[in-house]
Amino acid sequence: MLRVEDTAAVEFSTELLSKCTEIISRYPEGKQKSALLPILHEAQAEFGWLSSATMDKVAAILSIEPIEVYEVATFYTMYFMRPQGKYVLEVCRTGPCCLVGAEKIMDYIGEKLGVKEGEVTADGLFSYRGVECLAACGYAPVLQIGPEYTFYENLTTDSVDRLIADLKSK
Ligand code: FES
Repeated sequence: MLRVEDTAAVEFSTELLSKCTEIISRYPEGKQKSALLPILHEAQAEFGWLSSATMDKVAAILSIEPIEVYEVATFYTMYFMRPQGKYVLEVCRTGPCCLVGAEKIMDYIGEKLGVKEGEVTADGLFSYRGVECLAACGYAPVLQIGPEYTFYENLTTDSVDRLIADLKSK
């Protein structure tokens, strides 16, 4: 996913800062870098994605270099490097799902939402992207929606219509 540069200052909430402190306390003295992944999850939950400023702040909290945060955050696809919709539809695009129409489902989602992969709908509700195997190949084609990672299986254009309508009505 393309990275969006955004260095606007961020303010971590008191709750987020205390979660960071609690997570760091799980690790031995001097091993605070081990808290990086869970802290990135918490930061993403607060801001919806990880801007440069957010990652810099995480680096400062952990007393590590910003590059140490960037190299981890950009490696794992569950961290978003650009703003996302409230609901991110992550469609499996690995072989078994493609064999039964995953690419058509992705095209359909893009047409229905009126955005390209990685873009956010004007109402801020949706974005979508292709991801690798979700380990539900027997129920292909499949998509998941975080942060609970709810699975939607045996997708058809009709079930995508129902899913999007349901999410819009929440
Ligand atoms: Fe799609 Fe495994 S290939 S879930």
